[in-house]
Amino acid sequence: MALEKILFKNLDIPNMTELSTYEEHGGYKQWQRVMKDKVTPGELIDIVKASGLRGRGGAGFPTGLKWSFVPKDLPKPKYLICNGDESEPGTFKDREILEKTPHQLIEGVLLAAYAMGANTAYVYLRGEFVKGWKMVEHALAQAREAGYIGENIMGTGNNIQIWTHRGAGAYICGEETAMINSLEGLRGEPRLKPPFPAVEGFYHCPTIVNNVETLTNVPKIIENGAEWYTQWGTEKSRGTKLWSVCGHVQRPGVYEVPLGYPMKKFFEEELGGCWRGHKLKGVIPGGSSVFILKPEEFLDCTMDYENIAEHGSMLGSGGMIVFDETACLVEAATTIAQFYTHESCGQCTPCREGCGWVLRQLKDIEAGQPQPDAREMLLSVFDQIYGNTICPLGDSIVMPIKSMMEKFPEEFDYYIREGRSMITGKTRLAHLAQDNKPENWRRGEPFNYPREGDYKGDFSSVAHDVSRGPEPMYTKLPAREEK
Ligand SMILES: Cc1cc2nc3c(=O)[nH]c(=O)nc-3n(C[C@H](O)[C@H](O)[C@H](O)COP(=O)(O)O)c2cc1C
Ligand code: SF4
Repeated sequence: MALEKILFKNLDIPNMTELSTYEEHGGYKQWQRVMKDKVTPGELIDIVKASGLRGRGGAGFPTGLKWSFVPKDLPKPKYLICNGDESEPGTFKDREILEKTPHQLIEGVLLAAYAMGANTAYVYLRGEFVKGWKMVEHALAQAREAGYIGENIMGTGNNIQIWTHRGAGAYICGEETAMINSLEGLRGEPRLKPPFPAVEGFYHCPTIVNNVETLTNVPKIIENGAEWYTQWGTEKSRGTKLWSVCGHVQRPGVYEVPLGYPMKKFFEEELGGCWRGHKLKGVIPGGSSVFILKPEEFLDCTMDYENIAEHGSMLGSGGMIVFDETACLVEAATTIAQFYTHESCGQCTPCREGCGWVLRQLKDIEAGQPQPDAREMLLSVFDQIYGNTICPLGDSIVMPIKSMMEKFPEEFDYYIREGRSMITGKTRLAHLAQDNKPENWRRGEPFNYPREGDYKGDFSSVAHDVSRGPEPMYTKLPAREEK
């Protein structure tokens, strides 16, 4: 199976962010054809259904099927929301599309909006994606000017408007119903489902939320047909998938790979294996919220939804995080817990309280002062969170950390027993130990952990103080080329 490209085919062509370049390479041809030849929405949905395209935002739901859930006869406006929030640690694949080929995304948004009968589409972008937002805005302005977007498109009487909206830094707003709330001007809190957004979403109207990568596939599928698309992938996972790879790997970056590609081949030939000739310890294959795989499980996988699930994890968003033998998984677990605790929207008690419990237990372990029953306590809190929350964010703290504790128990046991890391030999959060807390502090009370300036001791043992907020847990990617 060759590494063919659908989404990244044009990426190396200079000026692909410009309308003229995109048009020279066949851009907006499908949109023109659909408009001028009066291809019906139903025909578009059938092609996408037959192609087997599945959502690339994490859950892998069949895209054409989702579109077909929009009630046709309901006298209400319909909406399309393109999900470009991309805030999951380890996931940075949509950013490539936004920054480098925004017109292909916009053509996909137009085709999808037309297929579901929406006159308005929003591209909801992670607030920090300033460059991506500028690129999309620039492309939208050009497409409006060219008459691809707006009123009475190409004289056909069809009206479709596309607007961008920038998030304000909340990971939870990537969840589709929280995103809808956020767009409505409400707090970014997930809604209970059902009703599903396809029936009752934005302002209680039928709404489809699709990922950036999902929609960017659509113009190519409409151009070449469903059968063409099915030449890649497996029976249940068709096409290609973008993978963002980070961590202790020789060649981190974003890769487009046909679904079903052998993981070992990808890891060894494309990624060059672990960096610095180190030994592989484990990999989280689908963004920080999924189960970690041991090397033998990981290398045995093929890169598709079903096979990764059979090996005990999930493809998720395709954000691959690689740990080599020098990584302390207790430290990694604390960093992950810090993220989800910070990002919990607080609606459900198991998530709001449970994430905090998990983080406190892990911090105590890393301070060298664990609770006597820290391990049991953590496992019990996991049980109380998992499956008991409105949205899957609660599960997201459980899956990576519980699987780390189950697959690498010696690292956690060692830290609890010896008060230091089995890997680094250090007590990373030693400065948080009881002796360093204010005299009147009692367990469970909020506590401002000391910062670098406050601490008089030796900071060389503190690789990264998680209380100082998100800092790179993994390898930094090479510097990106600025436009
Ligand atoms: C906590 C949380 C965060 C999410 N973040 C994103 C995100 O950043 N981008 C995304 O496309 N989907 C994200 N999702 C999934 C969306 O809810 C939704 O399933 C997806 O956008 C649907 O698009 P698709 O069918 O094209 O995959 C997230 C889900 C959860 C529970
Ligand atoms: S699981 Fe967490 S993030 Fe999701 S709705 Fe409940 S409290 Fe909010």
